[in-house]
Amino acid sequence: MSETIYDVPAAWAEKAWVTDAQYKEMYAASIKDPDTFWGEHGRRIDWFKPYAKVRNVSYKPGEVSIKWYEDGTTNVAYNCVDRHLATRANQTAIIWEGDDPAESRTITYGQLHAEVCKFANVLKAHGVRKGDRVTIYLPMIPEAAYAMLACARIGAIHSVVFGGFSPDSLSNRIEDADSRVVITADEGLRGGRAVPLKKNVDAADDKVKGGIGAVIVVRRTGGHVTMKPGRDFWYHEEAEKVSGHCPPAEMQAEDPLFILYTSGSTGKPKGVLHSTAGYLVYAAITHQYVFDYHDGDIYWCTADVGWVTGHSYILYGPLANGATTLMFEGIPTYPTISRFWEVIDKHKVNTFYTAPTAIRSLMGAGEEPVKKTSRASLRLLGSVGEPINPEAWEWYHRVVGEGRCPVVDTWWQTETGGILITPLPGATRLKPGSATRPFFGIRPEIVDTEGKVLEGACEGNLVIADSWPGQMRTVYGDHKRFEETYFATYPNKYFTGDGCRRDADGYYWITGRVDDVINVSGHRMGTAEVESALVAHPAVSEAAVVGYPHDIKGQGIYAYVTLMTGESPSEDLRKELVAHVRREIGPIASPDLIQFSPGLPKTRSGKIMRRILRKIAEDEHGALGDTSTLADPAVVDDLVANRQNRR
Ligand code: WT7
Repeated sequence: MSETIYDVPAAWAEKAWVTDAQYKEMYAASIKDPDTFWGEHGRRIDWFKPYAKVRNVSYKPGEVSIKWYEDGTTNVAYNCVDRHLATRANQTAIIWEGDDPAESRTITYGQLHAEVCKFANVLKAHGVRKGDRVTIYLPMIPEAAYAMLACARIGAIHSVVFGGFSPDSLSNRIEDADSRVVITADEGLRGGRAVPLKKNVDAADDKVKGGIGAVIVVRRTGGHVTMKPGRDFWYHEEAEKVSGHCPPAEMQAEDPLFILYTSGSTGKPKGVLHSTAGYLVYAAITHQYVFDYHDGDIYWCTADVGWVTGHSYILYGPLANGATTLMFEGIPTYPTISRFWEVIDKHKVNTFYTAPTAIRSLMGAGEEPVKKTSRASLRLLGSVGEPINPEAWEWYHRVVGEGRCPVVDTWWQTETGGILITPLPGATRLKPGSATRPFFGIRPEIVDTEGKVLEGACEGNLVIADSWPGQMRTVYGDHKRFEETYFATYPNKYFTGDGCRRDADGYYWITGRVDDVINVSGHRMGTAEVESALVAHPAVSEAAVVGYPHDIKGQGIYAYVTLMTGESPSEDLRKELVAHVRREIGPIASPDLIQFSPGLPKTRSGKIMRRILRKIAEDEHGALGDTSTLADPAVVDDLVANRQNRR
């Protein structure tokens, strides 16, 4: 545990939106009187009809209901685009940097407006109406932003599916959201390699009950695709047929804005549902304060729009604030390992927001690829997605930021819509590895397993005691699952699924998931999902999956596999199982280590003892604890003898 403390640089305290004293004052006010605080901040977006009621929230078991600004009406696309036209029509809204460094362009707010209106009219022409779900399976190209904002403009609910997901995962999400229209591209481009998106949609369509109604295809690479007449339409042809005029729909504050699927500890991924006004207010306020955003800043978040970080901090937060946001199609190592830093120099980026896994992998290449670039424009660095180890934090701060850029380690989740625990760069003294303090209006608590609230310096499970505007509203189509997942473990509180320590200064240190969710390179994966993919293979009779510490990825995927009688372990089968999981879920779910195990440690009632499997995967087999309740304790000896992770 690092005890180094970095003071707020004097220049920051002077220019930032809030100093430490102001943070304390505003935080106290936001907790004491949330209605007044959020009542005022609700006005940072424009309303068609202003709200009179700020919050209406119940966390009571059986009647969980979350509503913010419920009697107001507005439109998210209007707020992210139209309202800036009077002052920013010629300002760059999006800087697009292609996979190939020779390809980049800028889109002004004026152009963005025209593109979003056109895209919205194409959707309308294909029968998309208010409340309909539209699945977006696009690479990181400007059309992804146009498509999302187009949905918001006409009141359709978008469900963006990350381009790395397999046809199977895509079809499950299309079916669960019951979306008739899918937007995709011929191919994506990452690190010089084509990703067959349209082909994946074709394969997904075969599995969707009733089939996909219409597929709108954006031409990105010009690679060959087959177009099915009556189902597939080129976007550029459709766009020529529609008008460029499309008024924004008047939406109720609580109308859904988007669904985003995320992994839980059990069963299939859940459709996290976010609604219109509260989400946008929260994305905008956090983007302003956490990144200390000021007019003229060039802001870059390296996430993919397929994840919530891309929704809130590439698109909605920055655009609501009239910012210039950079959208990057490529990967950190292409064409060279200096790419991130070259892009920073090329576009004079001031704020850079990325994931610990990227930092750790770039760290491995040493300082030279960073130092050969200038990075003089950089003022602030951000981290998101998983705990950042103090070594990576220090390297990010010292090498990338040359010691002059504060690092904001932002803790949040798909469910929270925006950042909940974070430093503010002009206010917060930094401790490497700690997400530090709660944002305005956020009431974190640490509880023990019985739900008792712990005080002072302590360690336990992280809950949030009260609502904030950006909170998810339900699991799409399954409100009961929403209540059970988040509000049943500790009644009247939102349970995050994370473990956490609070130190004597009141700083929060996230220790990682306490459920069966693992975090691989900042991507969330349910162990149950990987297990069900494995047992779907004909050679597999049983599988148990756990996480283990991985130097670059944070956590790696460790799979224990029991084979069917007659099957025998081999290197070929190992490779085949990895390929099988990639096909079923996508490359992000590839097991790093597979251990063929004749048996799994089970209690006499047949429950797999994951605690033991985790210890062996961590190579901590000296500390297995009590194994006397196992049906067959001898299983453990074999597991230890054949363990795959030896440090
Ligand atoms: C889980 C949420 C937040 C958007 C990207 C991930 C972990 C996230 C941090 C952080 C420690 C973090 C938590 C959380 N996590 N940020 N700064 N420090 N852990 O969203 O896929 O919904 O995953 O990521 O475990 O619960 P997500």
